[in-house]
Amino acid sequence: MVAVLGYSREQIIAAVQDMYSVVATAPTAEFHFPVGREAAAALGYSPEELDGLPRSTLESFAGVGCPWHTDVIREGDTVLDIGAGAGVDALIASRRVGASGRVIAVDLTPAMVAKLAATAAENGYDNVRAMEGSAEALPLPDESVDVITSNGALNLVPDKRRAIAEMFRVLRPGGRMQISDVVIRRPVTVDCDSDPRLWVECVVGATVDEELLNHFRDAGFEGIEVVRSLDYFAHSPSAQTREIAASFDAYSTDLRLRRAQRAPSRIAQFLRRADPRRAAAALWRRGLAGSAALAMALLACYGTLAAIGLLGLAGIGIGLNETVWAGAIVVFALATAGILAIGARYHGSWIPAITGGVAAAAITGTMFIAYSLAVELAGFLVLAAAVGYDHYLRRRHQSRVLGLHDSGQQATAPQP
Ligand SMILES: C[S@@+](CC[C@H](N)C(=O)[O-])C[C@H]1O[C@@H](n2cnc3c(N)ncnc32)[C@H](O)[C@@H]1O
Repeated sequence: MVAVLGYSREQIIAAVQDMYSVVATAPTAEFHFPVGREAAAALGYSPEELDGLPRSTLESFAGVGCPWHTDVIREGDTVLDIGAGAGVDALIASRRVGASGRVIAVDLTPAMVAKLAATAAENGYDNVRAMEGSAEALPLPDESVDVITSNGALNLVPDKRRAIAEMFRVLRPGGRMQISDVVIRRPVTVDCDSDPRLWVECVVGATVDEELLNHFRDAGFEGIEVVRSLDYFAHSPSAQTREIAASFDAYSTDLRLRRAQRAPSRIAQFLRRADPRRAAAALWRRGLAGSAALAMALLACYGTLAAIGLLGLAGIGIGLNETVWAGAIVVFALATAGILAIGARYHGSWIPAITGGVAAAAITGTMFIAYSLAVELAGFLVLAAAVGYDHYLRRRHQSRVLGLHDSGQQATAPQP
């Protein structure tokens, strides 16, 4: 099978619905993720929890963690299960909340909703209501539920911020959440993050772990606890899926969190997002730290020169300590080369690091030993080329792991 890239959001949703319709209607088919009762047991669901659940629900279980480790659901609660699938968590919640509580199970895939509705009706789960709907536009009024549970759905949602804002909207103030989802430590930076095939396999759509926690904090959630992290993809029957997961350091996590009494103000949200440590961490994860260090070196060199020139035109003369100036340029040039050396661990080539190191040494020499404009310009040009090549190698490495062709335009399905 070859999947052609260039997809819209609608295509991602269609791909998700196609995949999970099969999980609902033909659960014994081959998938690249674990499905069924055994999968649930491997994730930590206890036999007592699973015993007694209808077979039709267990056979289509496709969760990625065990949100029950968080223990946030109480008798009488109104619980919302987002991306409920065939309903393992919804039915466990149904028992926990008892006759005085209720469970609303929302899912995007009509086949899953139909399966859960039929199972609930046939097996007397009278307090469970299955509804078709999207996590990005929950079909519920504001502040109408006590607890949200979700297992494996958020990574499949195109607009995570919107889905998290929806969670905040429908939860009552102080309401609790238990979330199991796939997260990654290294972001996907090639142009494939909207590949429907890669998306439905739960890695490409996943968010960087720290960024997901920040999305929740930004939206107004507090008391966020990572209750458990798990090497979920170790259970994948596909060697290629295991390789993709290892390359992006993907794993699943069980989270417990609480909705704050009030939504954060726009200013508070802006200040949180503008935190320079967040920007620095994002640059580092995306392999852009070398480009940032190079930009700083160029700014230190030519930016300072331009500022001195402009101030001079305005009749303002400033004295500049040339050693400090040259020192700043050299520090950033050497930092660029150092970052390129770290990149070698990722893509396996030392060419950018060695080339960058030679260029940084030339810049250092021309700044402190014998100044030459030609050497300075050549040094920066070679350093920029090394940064560009490092970038290219990182992308090529990701494309290879993801099975994308050189053009980055096509992807082949993972082979088991
Ligand atoms: C990995 S499965 C997990 C199903 C279920 N939670 C379980 O543990 O078996 C993800 C489920 O999320 C649903 N889903 C995906 N995107 C969604 C969205 N945007 N809104 C609501 N549900 C979605 C899928 O249809 C699928 O049933």
